[in-house]
Amino acid sequence: MTDTPSNTPDNDAIPKRSIRSFVLRQSHMTPAQQKAIDTLWPQFGLDFQAATVDLNTLFGRTAPKILEIGFGMGTATAEIAQRLPESDFLAIDVHGPGVGNLLKLIDEQSIGNIRVMRHDAVAVVETMLADASLDGIHIFFPDPWHKKRHHKRRLIQAAFVAMLLPKLKPGGYIHLATDWEEYAVQMLDVLSGFAELRNSAADYAPTPAYRPETKFEARGKRLGHGVWDLVFERIQYEPIKFSNF
Ligand SMILES: C[S@@+](CC[C@H](N)C(=O)[O-])C[C@H]1O[C@@H](n2cnc3c(N)ncnc32)[C@H](O)[C@@H]1O
Repeated sequence: MTDTPSNTPDNDAIPKRSIRSFVLRQSHMTPAQQKAIDTLWPQFGLDFQAATVDLNTLFGRTAPKILEIGFGMGTATAEIAQRLPESDFLAIDVHGPGVGNLLKLIDEQSIGNIRVMRHDAVAVVETMLADASLDGIHIFFPDPWHKKRHHKRRLIQAAFVAMLLPKLKPGGYIHLATDWEEYAVQMLDVLSGFAELRNSAADYAPTPAYRPETKFEARGKRLGHGVWDLVFERIQYEPIKFSNF
């Protein structure tokens, strides 16, 4: 959610879109987080580029690829990557201290299947990801933007989901979670509007076993919030074509 715009890679490239799902604020980078960035970025960091990236080349193997948008401090990301060692995780956030923290966790826990980007994920999806390159998408507790006048900043809107879906392989999934009931309703409504998506549950899904409690989720629970997970699968879908006789 926040960062100092001078001490992590890729700052300059964060685009200045008019409506963004995040706010760049000053926040404190610990010396350990900064050190992790200085030493580990070349191995585990990926800079924004205006061209598609070959994810198998990036990770050095052919394996399922999961995109995570908005990993925060990265604790859940690191845990999931260890629980699912056969998958590779491209983890994106704009928050500098979180980027440093996730790199630190990667190092401390010798995790090989995460690559980190510090950039606006909307631009990354739009520019760097090839169609049908992902097996899964995780977006856990995206900023709820509670006030009505800020709802336009919410990440989960039809326009962004329409941009995301072609990146998923048929059979791939999108997993969202939120602690804000009214945003959960919006998420269900948006995902249900896509004919190429099938809900894995009647409405909200049980939390899949691979997802641990995230930092933001724990905070929400302390405030008495509920938790809603949504898991939808991309199905083979051919729009009906009308031929001209
Ligand atoms: C509310 S926090 C949740 C963090 C984490 N998933 C958790 O549950 O603890 C949302 C995160 O999304 C990030 N974020 C919001 N919009 C983003 C975007 N367009 N691209 C990348 N990260 C974004 C914010 O920086 C923040 O770290």
